[in-house]
Amino acid sequence: MVEAFPKHYQRLYDRINELSARFPLRTVLELGCGVGHFVGFLREQGFLAEGIDGKTDLFRDDLMDYLHQGQLTDLKQVFGDRRFDMIVGRGVVCHGSQYDYSYGSRQDAGWLVVMSALDPQVKRELEKRVQAKIERILESSFNQLMPDGLLAVCEDIDTDDKIGFSMEAAQRIGYHVLSYEIQEAVLQKPK
Ligand SMILES: C[S@@+](CC[C@H](N)C(=O)[O-])C[C@H]1O[C@@H](n2cnc3c(N)ncnc32)[C@H](O)[C@@H]1O
Repeated sequence: MVEAFPKHYQRLYDRINELSARFPLRTVLELGCGVGHFVGFLREQGFLAEGIDGKTDLFRDDLMDYLHQGQLTDLKQVFGDRRFDMIVGRGVVCHGSQYDYSYGSRQDAGWLVVMSALDPQVKRELEKRVQAKIERILESSFNQLMPDGLLAVCEDIDTDDKIGFSMEAAQRIGYHVLSYEIQEAVLQKPK
């Protein structure tokens, strides 16, 4: 089967191409891979790509050997001591995506109404939880990377989506920040 390029991944794919010209990248894990089209496409391009998502109902049958179910906050539970050259993600480390995953916020307009009526204190508490979750995803990814391995994330699903962690949070975990923009970041695990 010849893979159609999943066009919405263009920005992340450009970044991967650029990085693979500078670093030896063979094994790639996609966080929040959804159906798995991008994993399939990367495999066709010669990467040893795999994906993980909490929701498996949409996984493509022909990619079952490479798609895994699990929580992005606990990659070790699925991958143990396996390490990847690169971990990538699109639409996973922004607040909207983590609200959506935990509370079904984007699909459920009713939930958004409840959210807007919430006490500001409760809202702040939810915000903190989502923030902590995003940082756990970063930490969990750090542990599954090879020394010198890269984490590249792109948050361009909606025009107002933003990377949901600060540069300082990434550095606290131990990453070198190679680039950090509103909608994308590239982090490296030091040797
Ligand atoms: C917004 S969708 C993006 C899907 C795909 N990457 C794309 O760009 O089309 C986010 C995906 O990440 C998964 N996801 C988000 N947070 C997760 C978590 N904490 N653990 C496991 N899967 C998660 C969701 O199930 C969903 O498939």
